[in-house]
Amino acid sequence: MQAWSRAARAAGRRIGFVPTMGFLHEGHLSLMREAKRRADLCAVSIYVNPTQFGPKEDFSQYPRDFERDRQLCESVGVDVIFAPTDAEMWGECGVRNAKCGMGTATTWVEETEVARRLEGEKRPGHFRGVCTVVAKLFNIVQPDVAYFGQKDAQQCAVLKRMVRDLNVPLELVVCPTVREADGLAMSSRNTYLSPDERRQAVVLKQSLDLARNLLGAGAQLDEVLDRMARLIQARPAARIDYIAFVDNESFEPLTDYRPGRTLAALAVFVGRTRLIDNELM
Ligand code: PAJ
Repeated sequence: MQAWSRAARAAGRRIGFVPTMGFLHEGHLSLMREAKRRADLCAVSIYVNPTQFGPKEDFSQYPRDFERDRQLCESVGVDVIFAPTDAEMWGECGVRNAKCGMGTATTWVEETEVARRLEGEKRPGHFRGVCTVVAKLFNIVQPDVAYFGQKDAQQCAVLKRMVRDLNVPLELVVCPTVREADGLAMSSRNTYLSPDERRQAVVLKQSLDLARNLLGAGAQLDEVLDRMARLIQARPAARIDYIAFVDNESFEPLTDYRPGRTLAALAVFVGRTRLIDNELM
């Protein structure tokens, strides 16, 4: 992979990079199309990173279909796919071990401020796993520009800090969230939902729309949170993990609405499936 990138860069080609965990959907493909538009070459990684899953999370069930992913990549003109094994990424003892982490790796990349909030609080170690694998992927793929989705807003904010703090020599571009026709944000995890849960899952986006309307009408943040919670709780399959208004960059909780800087973010279990969504208000 590094040799491919070195040759491309030596030939003056700009490399766009889209890291993914596969089971690709239109959200992923939108990032690849943007890479093709704005760079000369598009590299995609497909790797379900064990170090960003908690011990009780869905690492082993996470959907995988390499052949389908390969065809989708081809359909949007991706130039190269990097799909490493666990052993290639983390060293030979590619077996999960909660105590020592993965394989032989003993070095980690950790952002210590943004990563403490929301998702970081609910999923300890998650962003350490994300930062470490993304840092590794950046070193392997050596892109000029990397594309991420607003769907995972906190991941974007954490990775922007990492790029800034470690002088990572690339540009990080955030692309809009792609949604299903009814508003549900596309996610590989949507495949876990039963038909009834799938219908109820639209409540995440509905609660964000409600928030936007109430804020537009001058409502206070705590009142809006309350109305969002009531809307979500009215769906029998839904259980709120968190709903918050935070500063779009620092992810510090906000008490007052700051137009254009206020991110409404939520995580909701629909049945046993944990879904996240957010919108800048
Ligand atoms: P994954 O969930 O596969 O997502 C890969 C990229 O696609 C991320 O940047 C994510 O924000 C973006 N994405 C997912 N759903 C989207 C949607 N509906 N609209 C727009 N973009 C969307 O995020 C990860 O993988 C991993 O944490 C990774 C960065 C690959 C590190 O392992």
